[in-house]
Amino acid sequence: MLIARTREDLQAAGATGSVLVPTMGALHAGHGALMRLAREHAGPAGRVSVSIFVNPTQFNEAADFDRYPRTLEADCRVCEHAGVDVVFAPSPGVMYPAGEDVPVGTLPAVATAPGLEDAFRPGHFAGVCQVVRRLFALVRPGAAVFGEKDWQQLQVIRAMTEGEGLGVRIVPAPTIREPDGLAMSSRNTLLDGPSRARAPVISRALSEAGRTPDPGAAERAMARILADGGLTPEYAVVRDGATLGAWVPGRQGRALIAARLGGVRLIDNAPWPGPDRADAHGGSPMGPLP
Ligand code: PAF
Repeated sequence: MLIARTREDLQAAGATGSVLVPTMGALHAGHGALMRLAREHAGPAGRVSVSIFVNPTQFNEAADFDRYPRTLEADCRVCEHAGVDVVFAPSPGVMYPAGEDVPVGTLPAVATAPGLEDAFRPGHFAGVCQVVRRLFALVRPGAAVFGEKDWQQLQVIRAMTEGEGLGVRIVPAPTIREPDGLAMSSRNTLLDGPSRARAPVISRALSEAGRTPDPGAAERAMARILADGGLTPEYAVVRDGATLGAWVPGRQGRALIAARLGGVRLIDNAPWPGPDRADAHGGSPMGPLP
């Protein structure tokens, strides 16, 4: 496994055309699944690259950026173990060179209209689009894997990549969960004991929404379960799975939650209706989005 720090290192390492897993490090089993999926898409002879960069431009609060876990040595061991070919761990100066404008591009509607992450984290998707475009320009991957846990981010990156014709295939990766249902996230390490014990309430709220055929009732069920569990929801909604606008019958829906727990902000989502309501509005809830 090669560790690249610069564009020149990347070229020498043969990262062009690889399947890229963009990350901010603090790698956990969920990332391991992204890397395995990347390997499947690359094939045994193809190359898998992982980028590790805590991107300052996508954080809304300086304190959140400062306390984001940074574990590069351990991350490299995880990548090595997962059979990754190239780790790209650039400095901020390589990503955002002084005096060079790194464009954000035009944000797609799904990055600004839904009133979800876009409203609660103003500027976040501008930073995500900026860093992902930059990573694509430096690594020049053939495909890139993004987790479904950050559902709105996945739709934003899909829309940006298609809209700008960036020529990178976007591969979605299912969310990996702890045995108690909590979606794996680097932020989970910030939860103290009591908060960690309460956190699975989020996936329980999503499951209950999935069993509730009316979207308004599903939203009310999620709000009640979160409040009863001591979480403070920012949103708990049912939306169109692709546009994240209002859900209309016949379209694939998605239930999405952002909630605060013990000072930590957690997000999660699930297909709506859920698997045991596959017949509720036609179509399979686990199938591809329209
Ligand atoms: O999902 C993440 O970890 C980040 O938003 C990403 C895509 C690596 C961009 O910094």
